[in-house]
Amino acid sequence: MSDPTTVDVNGVSVTPTSDGDTPLLTVLRDELGLLGSRFGCGQGLCGACMVDVDGTAMPSCQTPLWQVAGQQVTTVEGLGTDGRPHPVQQAILERQAAQCGFCLSGIVVAAAALLAEEPDADADRVAEALDRNLCRCGAQRRIIDAVLAAGGAR
Ligand code: FES
Ligand code: FES
Repeated sequence: MSDPTTVDVNGVSVTPTSDGDTPLLTVLRDELGLLGSRFGCGQGLCGACMVDVDGTAMPSCQTPLWQVAGQQVTTVEGLGTDGRPHPVQQAILERQAAQCGFCLSGIVVAAAALLAEEPDADADRVAEALDRNLCRCGAQRRIIDAVLAAGGAR
């Protein structure tokens, strides 16, 4: 058992009991009860588990807890609330952009990270930023349109 790892999750400092080598996704879901980040491939290939770590979207299934020690982790739950959704969440809702939604948490996190850096990102940049996020139901076009709307590009 390695030393306890303290990390900021959605603005709250936590010290999970999980070993430092535990995937961050496992800690988030199984220990902290944050079920928004999804387990898809478990291999860093689908993006369903993306969380924001100090401004960068990262696959939490491939990120050991120790790696985020002292950093700020934001999950989809930390981006907005029912009453005050993040602009990306709001745009996806308004446009009914998703179909199944399994991929959506990771997409929202990745899109929010992009727009925080590049609010005027165009469609090519959005597509590039979401390239690591798989959506198998073919909603990509609507999701990209929603991200563009959230960023003010349209
Ligand atoms: S579950 Fe992490 S990238 Fe697929
Ligand atoms: S909306 Fe993404 S896989 Fe269906």
